Amino acid sequence: MTGMRHILPEQMLSSLSELLAQRTGLNFPKERWSDLERGMSAAARASGENNVQAYVRRLLSAGLTQHQTEILASHLTVGETYFFRDGKSFELLEQYALPALIHSRRDAGRRLRIWSAGCCTGEEPYSIAMLLDRLLPDHEQWDITLLATDINPQFLRKGADGVYGDWSFRDTPAWIKERYFKKVRQGYFEIHPRIKKRVTFSYLNLADDVYPSLSNNTHAMDLILCRNVLMYFAAAQAAKIAGKLHRALVDDGGLLVSPAEASNTLLAQFAPAYFFSDAAIYRKAAPRETTPAAEAIPFFFPPPETQQPDTPAPTIKPPVPPPDGAAALCVTARLCAGQGRLAEAAGWCEQAIAANRLNPQSHYLLATIRQELGQADAAEQSLKRALYLDPDFVLAYFTLGNLRRSQGRREEAGRYFGNALALLQRRPCHEAIMESDGLTAGRLEDIIRSALDNLPQPCTTGKKH
Ligand SMILES: C[S@@+](CC[C@H](N)C(=O)[O-])C[C@H]1O[C@@H](n2cnc3c(N)ncnc32)[C@H](O)[C@@H]1O
Repeated sequence: MTGMRHILPEQMLSSLSELLAQRTGLNFPKERWSDLERGMSAAARASGENNVQAYVRRLLSAGLTQHQTEILASHLTVGETYFFRDGKSFELLEQYALPALIHSRRDAGRRLRIWSAGCCTGEEPYSIAMLLDRLLPDHEQWDITLLATDINPQFLRKGADGVYGDWSFRDTPAWIKERYFKKVRQGYFEIHPRIKKRVTFSYLNLADDVYPSLSNNTHAMDLILCRNVLMYFAAAQAAKIAGKLHRALVDDGGLLVSPAEASNTLLAQFAPAYFFSDAAIYRKAAPRETTPAAEAIPFFFPPPETQQPDTPAPTIKPPVPPPDGAAALCVTARLCAGQGRLAEAAGWCEQAIAANRLNPQSHYLLATIRQELGQADAAEQSLKRALYLDPDFVLAYFTLGNLRRSQGRREEAGRYFGNALALLQRRPCHEAIMESDGLTAGRLEDIIRSALDNLPQPCTTGKKH
């Protein structure tokens, strides 16, 4: 921040930030220079140097050795994590992605390779190990790699110790602690040795060009979790890392990022596999490219014989908490629709509605599928039901407007678009619109205004930005 006093000269802080971004990906823009100085003072002390300026000068002239990088990482990284962080992502993994992955590998060598890249103190890879423990009753018959890497050696040591305080369980279902941990002292719990031994911790700097590689076991991954890591990197570095993670995956492998990192720009090489506002998994390539033959069961798509409500694959125990059957059916409907199997998608959606008639999203989804099928009247009916259940459903108005426009009924189209604009006026421009795969209120408003401009009798509501 301008005007803030620093203990190091600005030029030095600027060069240091550049060096760190290049060598570690750690991003220290001006606003974080105070954090940087605090971390550097601690790193200087840990390196036996009393004068932080002399320490930084030495680093800048001699460059970073591996040892120095580790010391810096120990003092400059953000160690924020907990078991089953971002519950929706773990639900997605437990109910869909992992069962589908397990199913596709069951007859293909029973081999699973999962990597938690930027694992911090181990809560994330251990959460996966616990999920696999529940999903794979025949765990012993599988060859499972669960690799956990980080740039901070202290975090890795803590992970390998496997002892956690209450804070690591801050948003974790109580039964997890009961089932998988043993109290070792007041407020501290050790993970069960059976789970602990399934995770391998090792040092890896994601900014280094050392992966994918056989030598550090970072190749041929089925699933990579890289959550809340890329968001701390500068854009160019994050893009480079995304490229390397892409290469580290098998052809039908998947990448899980945090909801905040789900970006079709950063992850342009990937195709969204499951993409919701609160959880996102990408796959390396579009399924049709990777599975041209019908015999290959693509990871991420519930295999046909297991497409049953609430039981995505035959091997798993019922998830806790129990899944919302209608939501599961809608996910299947979306996946079918994404693959162009529209009639099947409509069938799943109708089942979702039968399971829960009061969910406006299911009606909306059915409307979009029916529209794709060319069933305009049925689509209209579903949209009106969605609006009956949720009168603020912007996209339903927008879709009705489009429907009317394509039927040449311009006045009605204008009215529906106008309703959508009036609803959008009540929202901040950057707010994501429900069911829109990340479209913001501002962007949708632009789209609607342009649609209105193309009607002979524009109907505007005069919203200011
Ligand atoms: C906020 S934590 C995220 C932990 C976990 N993935 C989660 O989502 O809960 C970010 C982690 O990224 C690690 N990290 C930062 N830069 C890294 C790099 N260049 N290579 C590997 N790990 C890095 C940090 O040490 C830290 O453990």
